[in-house]
Amino acid sequence: MQINLRINHENIRAEIDPDMTLQKFLRSQKYFSVKCGCETSNCGACSILLDGKPVLSCSVLAARAEGHEIETLEGLQKEAEEIGGFIADEGADQCGFCNPGYIITAIALFKENPDPSDEEIKIWLSGNLCRCTGYEGQMRGFIKYREWRNGR
Ligand code: FES
Ligand code: FES
Repeated sequence: MQINLRINHENIRAEIDPDMTLQKFLRSQKYFSVKCGCETSNCGACSILLDGKPVLSCSVLAARAEGHEIETLEGLQKEAEEIGGFIADEGADQCGFCNPGYIITAIALFKENPDPSDEEIKIWLSGNLCRCTGYEGQMRGFIKYREWRNGR
């Protein structure tokens, strides 16, 4: 079947299998920031923005994206570098596999709420798992990013 959608503000038309997940489709289109950690909606590594909202692309059929706008980190380089820098500075960038999912979820959070509390950051990022760290480094990074972004 054919699908028409926008990815990172570009019109895309492609052939897909009806049962293909959005995660597999995006990687087939070479959006390699979209990772696969579990395929069972548990790890957050496959997070992308669908019409500006974070979703787990392993849990959405590509066909459901027909007519919608998808954003991946490839289209959000500036924000990704800014947030990623704060995470790395706090030592939370070890194998790095979880980073794209964390960063895209954080981008969505700060777009919706430019000044989230520490608790709100924790709640937003609770669906993103990291096998290497104890999560404290990511939290410090996001808090410092919030302070920097808000000029404090
Ligand atoms: S790969 Fe989608 S949540 Fe883990
Ligand atoms: S840094 Fe390795 S999974 Fe998070």
